[in-house]
Amino acid sequence: MKYLVISDIHSNLEAFEKLLNIKKVKEVDKILFLGDLVGYGANPNEVIELFRSLKNVAYIRGNHDKVVAGIESSSLFNPVAAFSAEWSKNNVTKENLEFLKNIEMGPKIVDHFSTICHGSVFDEDYYVFSVFEASESMKSMETSVAFYGHTHFPVMYLLRNNKIDTVPFVKDTKIKLDSNTKYLINPGSIGQPRDKDPRPSYIIFDSNKRELLFQRFSYSIKKTQKKIREAGLPDVLASRLESGI
Ligand SMILES: [Fe+2]
Repeated sequence: MKYLVISDIHSNLEAFEKLLNIKKVKEVDKILFLGDLVGYGANPNEVIELFRSLKNVAYIRGNHDKVVAGIESSSLFNPVAAFSAEWSKNNVTKENLEFLKNIEMGPKIVDHFSTICHGSVFDEDYYVFSVFEASESMKSMETSVAFYGHTHFPVMYLLRNNKIDTVPFVKDTKIKLDSNTKYLINPGSIGQPRDKDPRPSYIIFDSNKRELLFQRFSYSIKKTQKKIREAGLPDVLASRLESGI
């Protein structure tokens, strides 16, 4: 089984469309989406509708999906995130809002060895930025592999013989997974990469070969920026896309 693992699309239609046109991506059997369809970008409806048109997708909600859906208030968000969440709430159609409201909370076990979650396995809002946070998340893992998003930072943590190692994904990387190791893996973000590389990133996971491929691609950032500015969203949401922060 070949999986496409993606996270944090954040209403970025150009990046999402470009991803879905990649040959390798078209060939997968199933998509695993780790949350945050909306928030930040200018095309929440188009992104939700494109997402809904996909077949064979296992997915869970992200913190932005939850706030835009009205399940939680934006009071814990920073001012820019709160503004864009409120903007999205006002611009999403009733039907799409209903779709957002019904997205289940993670974690979700997708097969006998993989779990998907947004922030961490034990708390959808928890950020895994460090070895300590990764080890906290790994304590709750019921499968040998867990995919998470939320930080927009592509990285892999490995737990073997009670020792955790970190492997940052910086360029095209192919990794064979061992059976005696636990893996906590973040594919990075489609809509708003934050590891100083503006190119969106994704993972193709071949569960038969237990092989993982990390990839990046380019898209029309200028077009996305123009839409964000024209929508009256905070300028930083446009400018950060070109620096990948
Ligand atoms: Fe996010």
